[in-house]
Amino acid sequence: MMHDLVISGARVVCPGVVSDCDIGISGGKIVTLGAGLEGAEVIDAAGLIAMPGGIDSHVHIAQPSGPGIEMADDFASATRSAACGGNTTVMPFCLPEAGQTLREAVAAYHAKAKGNCLTDVSFHLIVTSTDPVTLGQDLPALIAQGLTSFKVFMTYQGMRLSDAEILQVMDVAREQGALTMVHAENEDAIEFLRDKAERLGDTAPVHHARTRPVPVEREATHRATTLAEVAGVPVMIVHVSNGAALDEIQRAKARGVQVLAETCPQYLTLTADDLDRAGFDGAKWVCSPPPRDTAEQAAIWAGLEQGAFDVFSSDHCPFRFADPAGKDAPGARASFRNIPNGIPGVETRLPILFSEGVRKGRISLTAFAALTATNHARIYGLKDKGAIAIGKDADIVLWDPEAKRTISQDILHHGADYTPWEGFEVTGWPVRTILRGQTVVQDGAPVDSAPGVHVAREAPDVSR
Ligand code: URP
Ligand code: ZN
Ligand code: ZN
Repeated sequence: MMHDLVISGARVVCPGVVSDCDIGISGGKIVTLGAGLEGAEVIDAAGLIAMPGGIDSHVHIAQPSGPGIEMADDFASATRSAACGGNTTVMPFCLPEAGQTLREAVAAYHAKAKGNCLTDVSFHLIVTSTDPVTLGQDLPALIAQGLTSFKVFMTYQGMRLSDAEILQVMDVAREQGALTMVHAENEDAIEFLRDKAERLGDTAPVHHARTRPVPVEREATHRATTLAEVAGVPVMIVHVSNGAALDEIQRAKARGVQVLAETCPQYLTLTADDLDRAGFDGAKWVCSPPPRDTAEQAAIWAGLEQGAFDVFSSDHCPFRFADPAGKDAPGARASFRNIPNGIPGVETRLPILFSEGVRKGRISLTAFAALTATNHARIYGLKDKGAIAIGKDADIVLWDPEAKRTISQDILHHGADYTPWEGFEVTGWPVRTILRGQTVVQDGAPVDSAPGVHVAREAPDVSR
């Protein structure tokens, strides 16, 4: 059989098994796995590892971030950066602007993304209001359209929901078969600490981390899992940063609650000391939850090694540093309170986990593929994606496991003007990214086209 494309000679990471085989691709799908395959085009991938293209199920792109504040990435730059980092699908959040309905917000995001993406995209929702139109009309309609997951916040003024509201939203998730994702930090406790810090004149970026200590995340994680237990729904706790929060998740699981957990590179490799750099520089590392310390890093690594985490995402949320529309927002130097929260990371997520996890012997190749692609597809209902298996989309990334890179702003493709991992050395780099059989990045260079489309999803597997 003649295929459109054959990838030949790679070590192929299939679900649960690594195999030396060719990958036969036709019509954008993986149709054959075997030896000696024929193709109209053949990629010689000897010495490389073929992985499922990364799925980053937690990214923020062109998200409204307050008056005068602008995210550093639009869909073109974010998906270019994602593809160069070995991803083939990203899952951004749709956040309504003031006065916009959820359905209007989704329409606006589709308009921003359409025709501009180098990877496929699939939207999550953010629910910040429990009015009857949102809960009774918009949410059910959007879930029916395949936007089958949404995030709620227990923190951030103007976005947080009360416990009563979270229960209402979870009830809609239960009725409609969607998955609730929770940002778990206790806003009242943070506000108490933030006010106190400001009264004492502790206003530098590091106080962002000091006013969001582990207990505020641990308590909120306990509450979020308990609310899910009461509502009778599965829940995804996103961006878990420390061992105490992970313990709460494990305790809830032991009670029979269906809890899924996500962590991110910042909680494996950065610490609160990064926010304590000279002058205003620490603002580059301001994100929530904040990076912790090396003991908490070890707890998160242990969780990854022991299978306590389902997905590893970036929480890419880029702001330029030297920009009044970014980290240097009005009032940001006067108080950490005004520094936009979030860091860029969609391009560095996979190399960091490959280098620190696979190369250092902490996780296997198959665990890497599960944590970075397969589990995202299964959990969020991307039925055609996330695995090198017959019938799946030919979303594949070829890795050079020996390539050494020093992460630096110079080699990245995002719209931010810095990377929090400047100078971080990695071994292993994605050298070719293939989306539905089409090469979108080769040798670090993105192709000049935008083949990415929005992908509607099935109900998350845990919600079925
Ligand atoms: O600081 C962060 N993580 N910003 C992005 C929004 C969120 O909470 O995920
Ligand atoms: Zn969050
Ligand atoms: Zn986020």
